[in-house]
Amino acid sequence: MKLDKSISAIITGGGSGLGEGTARALAEHGVKVGIFDLNEDGGNKVASDLGGVFVKVDVSDSASVAAGLVEFRGNLGQERICVNCAGIAPAAKTVDREGAAHDPALFSKVIGINLVGTFNVASQCAAGMVASEPLNDDGERGVIINTASVAAYDGQVGQIGYGASKAAVAGMTLPMARDLARDGVRVMTIAPGIFGTPMVSGMPQEVQESLGAMVPFPSRLGQPAEYASLALQIIDNPMLNGETIRLDGAIRMAPR
Ligand SMILES: NC(=O)c1ccc[n+]([C@@H]2O[C@H](COP(=O)([O-])OP(=O)(O)OC[C@H]3O[C@@H](n4cnc5c(N)ncnc54)[C@H](O)[C@@H]3O)[C@@H](O)[C@H]2O)c1
Repeated sequence: MKLDKSISAIITGGGSGLGEGTARALAEHGVKVGIFDLNEDGGNKVASDLGGVFVKVDVSDSASVAAGLVEFRGNLGQERICVNCAGIAPAAKTVDREGAAHDPALFSKVIGINLVGTFNVASQCAAGMVASEPLNDDGERGVIINTASVAAYDGQVGQIGYGASKAAVAGMTLPMARDLARDGVRVMTIAPGIFGTPMVSGMPQEVQESLGAMVPFPSRLGQPAEYASLALQIIDNPMLNGETIRLDGAIRMAPR
């Protein structure tokens, strides 16, 4: 898909981290951006920097997503790009040190935001895309990019909920791409390793350094601009479809 000011994009979690980096990169290519986030300060700041719109949306709530899409489309038209970066990563073990089973409400919350939230936004964006005119000779109508994690494959101790949610995002990728193929909508997923975003920068400095040192090459945390660069390549290259790409400097996470 060729990027210019005729294209609109929705970035969930765009008020921070990987989503913010992607929103900034898309805007540099002229794309009109909409930020869907619960974080009003971050979302408003990014949207106003980029001349885009911020809509307060809880991705885990399908009605909130539907209302957000009405507001976004009223301002910037039908989105042709949807990048799902909203997510949370609480840590909890299957059985904790006191012998208590994992809080089922916490498990459901992670699944509700990371998996159901991705499904809500992707499926509702897809409905708008398939009803739109094709953009080029391939008949392309839109691109959806979801965010998994290397925890989809190498979940660590304390990542039962997070790993399950991200494995399911990876598992949705091919069937969603197959469902939407006839209508020219591509679906790809990025599985990041360890990136320097607020999700990670909240950890103690020595933990961040040791996380960076675990990456074979380059031996550091990834940068949001590097995630954004892959998102741009996915949008640009029509043969990328139905796959999850690890973006991780060859890291394979240890158990802890
Ligand atoms: N940073 C990493 O190392 C890393 C690694 C692998 C995967 N990821 C994934 O990448 C994505 C982005 O992570 P990040 O590092 O930029 O984190 P981040 O915390 O900087 O950003 C996440 C954003 O999602 C928003 N959000 C959370 N719940 C929401 C909800 N219910 N509705 C709408 N918005 C909501 C937050 O407000 C925040 O702005 C997440 O899905 C995360 O799991 C991150």
